[in-house]
Amino acid sequence: MSAFATTRADSGKLLVLTPGLGAVATTFMAGVEAVRHGLAAPIGSLSQMQTIRIGPRSEGRNPFIRDLLDLAPLENLEFGAWDVFGDDAYEAAVRANVLRPDHLSGVKDYLSSIKPMSAAFEQKYVKRLSGPNVKEAASKYDLAQMLREDIRNRMAETGASRAVMVWCGSTEVYLRPAPCHADMDAFEKGLRDSDDAISPSQLYAYAAIMEGVPYANGAPNLSADIPALEQLALERGVPIAGKDFKTGQTLMKTILAPGMKARMLGINGWFSTNILGNRDGEILDDESSFRAKEVTKSAVLDTLLQPEIYPDLYGKLYHKVRINYYPPRGDEKEGWDNIDIFGWMGYPMQIKVDFLCRDSILAAPIVLDLALFLDLAGRSGRSGIQEWLSFYFKSPHVGVGHVPEHDLFIQHFRLKNTLRVLAGEEPVTHLSENYEANLDTP
Ligand SMILES: NC(=O)c1ccc[n+]([C@@H]2O[C@H](COP(=O)([O-])OP(=O)(O)OC[C@H]3O[C@@H](n4cnc5c(N)ncnc54)[C@H](O)[C@@H]3O)[C@@H](O)[C@H]2O)c1
Repeated sequence: MSAFATTRADSGKLLVLTPGLGAVATTFMAGVEAVRHGLAAPIGSLSQMQTIRIGPRSEGRNPFIRDLLDLAPLENLEFGAWDVFGDDAYEAAVRANVLRPDHLSGVKDYLSSIKPMSAAFEQKYVKRLSGPNVKEAASKYDLAQMLREDIRNRMAETGASRAVMVWCGSTEVYLRPAPCHADMDAFEKGLRDSDDAISPSQLYAYAAIMEGVPYANGAPNLSADIPALEQLALERGVPIAGKDFKTGQTLMKTILAPGMKARMLGINGWFSTNILGNRDGEILDDESSFRAKEVTKSAVLDTLLQPEIYPDLYGKLYHKVRINYYPPRGDEKEGWDNIDIFGWMGYPMQIKVDFLCRDSILAAPIVLDLALFLDLAGRSGRSGIQEWLSFYFKSPHVGVGHVPEHDLFIQHFRLKNTLRVLAGEEPVTHLSENYEANLDTP
């Protein structure tokens, strides 16, 4: 365990807080509890299921990530949530209709014990949502203080020694960075003036960082990705990450596009359309929330394919993304992609993808990995934006002047090398792989 010399040891309970107790949050909590009772496997979670090579190939050391790193064990996770509806996690999971009744019945008592705290919420930020479980306060500053108190209370109730927060709330309307986001003085003045540019998700992010709680944003809206909160996270030694969980169609896109690019195949059209019928779909049916999603979904191909470097291959790419609310489908989304590609001498070809995916099933393991890795990052003295967690996001939060990396394979490589470094091991370069004489190089 000397490898963890710079990491504060995991001890006691870790509280995972989610603003939002909807489809993703309840699927995540139900899954963790089912795994703890041996009722299910944590499929899709790197922290629970993946191995990692350490040292040169000749040593054959391939431990599981969970064994290499001092991650919080699932037995030590506690949960807390806020929602604008008062339903407990069991009722919310039944409503979300993601998990089958036989899966939910096994964890019913536990989920029923998770009651949402009242939300910091205003309908102007999520037009298609209103509910009764909402805080009243004279200013946004007061609301933020109430959230801070909620964090402390929930930690005391659960006996947790530390916490992390992952935003699993609805997608808020599209907001641009405003003057009150520029630095902490402006932000705190904005809180006292209840500035319209400060959304509820920013209140949660601020409260988390002030309490020393790492924060990740699973939705596409502006949240901790503003200079004021980036600066606060650095000052208070708190890791932050975002944004918009990489699931479904964008996951496919960041698997397929790097493959085309690696083979120098051209792409001149990529049309993506979806039907989905859950509450998230209903909220995205509102143009202002869809705009936030459209921005994160659309940027992916542009940065990934680098049309400025490869104008002959990607300079004329027409990329269109649509999301259509279609209630009969519930959480079982269907996403179609029509990809017009071209090869040698410009000959056209087409790829059609029809992905019948389950969004929350893909998102739940992301919430788990983010919670465990952010907690580890915090205990390892890492603060501010954690770009190495880009693997999990559609629109990776990066520092000023950095271009986000969207290629899933580069993201994966970076994630694993950062985990090696956090474990006090050498990063792997694969440079020796073709030279038997160099087998001793990692
Ligand atoms: N499901 C996926 O695969 C996926 C992928 C990427 C991003 N996301 C994002 O994750 C978020 C959650 O998705 P979901 O499918 O669970 O949605 P959902 O609608 O089922 O749940 C969201 C919950 O957040 C609550 N909420 C909204 N504003 C709140 C606030 N200010 N405070 C507390 N609670 C609030 C809502 O009442 C709702 O219960 C959405 O923003 C979605 O866009 C989901």
